[in-house]
Amino acid sequence: ALPPVMIQGPMPIEAQYFASLLNDVRTEKAGQATFYIGTFNGYPVVVAQTGKGLENTAAATAVGIERYHPRAIINQGTSGGHDPDLQVGDIVLGKRSVNASNFKTPFRDKGEGSAPLEWLPMDLLASEGSAGEGDSAKDAERIRYYVADAELLAAAHAVKGQYKRGKVVEGTIASGNFWNNELDRIAWLHTKFGTSTEEMETASAAQVAHSYGIPFLGIRVLSNNLTNDGHYDPSTATDCQAFVKLVIEQYIKHS
Ligand code: 5AD
Repeated sequence: ALPPVMIQGPMPIEAQYFASLLNDVRTEKAGQATFYIGTFNGYPVVVAQTGKGLENTAAATAVGIERYHPRAIINQGTSGGHDPDLQVGDIVLGKRSVNASNFKTPFRDKGEGSAPLEWLPMDLLASEGSAGEGDSAKDAERIRYYVADAELLAAAHAVKGQYKRGKVVEGTIASGNFWNNELDRIAWLHTKFGTSTEEMETASAAQVAHSYGIPFLGIRVLSNNLTNDGHYDPSTATDCQAFVKLVIEQYIKHS
């Protein structure tokens, strides 16, 4: 049998539309994850509803890879804009993703408080040694980006003209178990690390997919954007899946 393409979405509103497009579906569970195993246009597809956040996503990605051996993984869903040029409904193709909760704090003494805008990036994959102390610690003081698979990215670009709700741009998806509402922190992430939009999953799935050598792309719609008063609109979750459907059609046409 052909290996499937795996589409991940954290919440029901981010997975159920795509699951409803599948034929001959069977369902399997693992922890917080539900896998819908079926076909789409005759091609094997697994939709994974992963649950929210880095941990659920990492677990669902590893279990999904071990069980279904996907040829490619797309993580998609909603997000909050860091870039004032992006409107609610616009889509970011994650040319890069980054874990925006991996930081090391420079030393401050008792009574000196906390200064989050001085935190240093921390790369836990830099070495097998300590990221905090010792010989290997300096090596870890850098940002790690997970780069998108070129073929998946090309498939997304090929169909972006068909998306009518907003524009489709390349960018950097920031992931962490954080919902940032501090405009100065959002601006810091945007200028220092080039983040386009934030959510809680993509970099986690990217890290696990990369460690298994599986092609990966994150695709995120903006459901909110505090930087330009873009109010939360959950209907964007279905629009994102409808766009991912076009990407999958394009991707499997060329395989
Ligand atoms: N910040 C963080 N996560 C967000 N999500 C949507 N908008 C944001 C935002 N501004 C997504 C996350 C998570 C859920 C809370 O919604 O990916 O799954």
